[in-house]
Amino acid sequence: MTEKYDIKDAALAPEGRLRIEWASREMPVLAQIKQRLAKDKPFAGVRVSACLHVTTETANLALALKAGGADLVLCASNPLSTQDDVAAALVEAGIPTSAIKGENEATYYKHITAALDHKPNLTVDDGADLVTTLHTKRSELLKGVFGGTEETTTGVIRLRSMEKAGKLTYPIIAVNDAQTKYLFDNRYGTGQSTLDGVTRATNILWAGKKLVVSGYGWCGKGLAMRAKGMGAQVIVTEVEPIKALEAAMDGCQVMTMAQAAPIGDIFITVTGDKHVISKEVIPLLKDGAILANSGHFNVEIDIPALEALSKNKRRVREFVDEYTFKNGKKAYLLGEGRLINLAAAEGHPASVMDMSFANQALCLEYLVKNKGKLETRVFAVPQDIDKTVARLKLASMGMDIDTLTPEQVKYLAGWEEGT
Ligand SMILES: NC(=O)c1ccc[n+]([C@@H]2O[C@H](COP(=O)([O-])OP(=O)(O)OC[C@H]3O[C@@H](n4cnc5c(N)ncnc54)[C@H](O)[C@@H]3O)[C@@H](O)[C@H]2O)c1
Repeated sequence: MTEKYDIKDAALAPEGRLRIEWASREMPVLAQIKQRLAKDKPFAGVRVSACLHVTTETANLALALKAGGADLVLCASNPLSTQDDVAAALVEAGIPTSAIKGENEATYYKHITAALDHKPNLTVDDGADLVTTLHTKRSELLKGVFGGTEETTTGVIRLRSMEKAGKLTYPIIAVNDAQTKYLFDNRYGTGQSTLDGVTRATNILWAGKKLVVSGYGWCGKGLAMRAKGMGAQVIVTEVEPIKALEAAMDGCQVMTMAQAAPIGDIFITVTGDKHVISKEVIPLLKDGAILANSGHFNVEIDIPALEALSKNKRRVREFVDEYTFKNGKKAYLLGEGRLINLAAAEGHPASVMDMSFANQALCLEYLVKNKGKLETRVFAVPQDIDKTVARLKLASMGMDIDTLTPEQVKYLAGWEEGT
């Protein structure tokens, strides 16, 4: 076992501890699961390497896994998303953590390597950088791994592509694809926290602004919905006709990026794709346009093109870089094009991560219970885990639901009865 860790400042631990405790108030489902894990110890003797955004919510998951007996280490899943006080508190709690907010790419991968040095039996990933590094650079460790989980859309897409290419070597559960994950975390979590990130970075007024949302998937829908509530006029760009139609009927304007570029005040990409704001689009932008991304990687805005097309760049606020183009027009890039909700704000509120991380904990337990029995592929979250999380969340919110009567069960299963 490695005891290595790399954090900004161990003295930040008390602050981190308090904030982790604050998040735990909003994570009753995970707390309940933690209690049971602490009793059953399903992870006793299991080495877990986790690559997640190092936030207060992740800390609560890490503490739950540790309570369940896991021998756990943690590294950051994004160079800008780490909360340094949380990293310090985790190290203090006995969870070796390698994560520093603002780390460069070399340090980011050094931290992933440190997490892999732990010789994991289980991996927990967010974006699939840990799993990819494991398969490409540390393949000697693969024989010890019997399962993994993946937190986000982009990671699941990469893993499915690995599976298709015959490169995946152990079963991974796509936690992102649980209904109790994407319907809530991606939609309401990203919706709220992205606005929070842009607001904290810029202090703009949303009312009356023209917001261009690129990608009308679960994240984009939530973002558009919440931005409308703040008084923004939402324009959507899409590549899928059904999603675009949905956006139109949800009351958004739909157009191409080239059409939106000269109109939009603020652009937020949430596609999981690259170069959505491309070198062709950048010259079309309105003077003063604000550009942000809330998709997983920092490639949705073509930042090298932004650099090449501008004559001057300066940091005007903590998360705001001003680019001045050769014709004098300006554009503002937020959070270096990285997930703005995690770079400039605190990521998703704890209440929604309660469900995502309840799924994580239960899926990891499922992998332990089914060790050696699962095929090597990307799995959906088992239905009963998804439903359990929903039931526990409803109960924690003090809500009850009806139960089908035997008559209704029979009716819904039959075909004979008509009007
Ligand atoms: N910021 C966060 O905290 C957070 C949380 C969850 C997911 N994510 C990430 O956000 C991204 C989107 O996730 P999702 O769950 O909404 O995915 P999704 O698959 O539901 O939606 C993505 C949408 O983008 C569209 N799209 C793809 N290329 C496009 C292009 N060039 N122009 C316009 N639209 C395009 C797709 O058609 C699709 O409708 C992923 O990278 C995911 O990992 C971020």
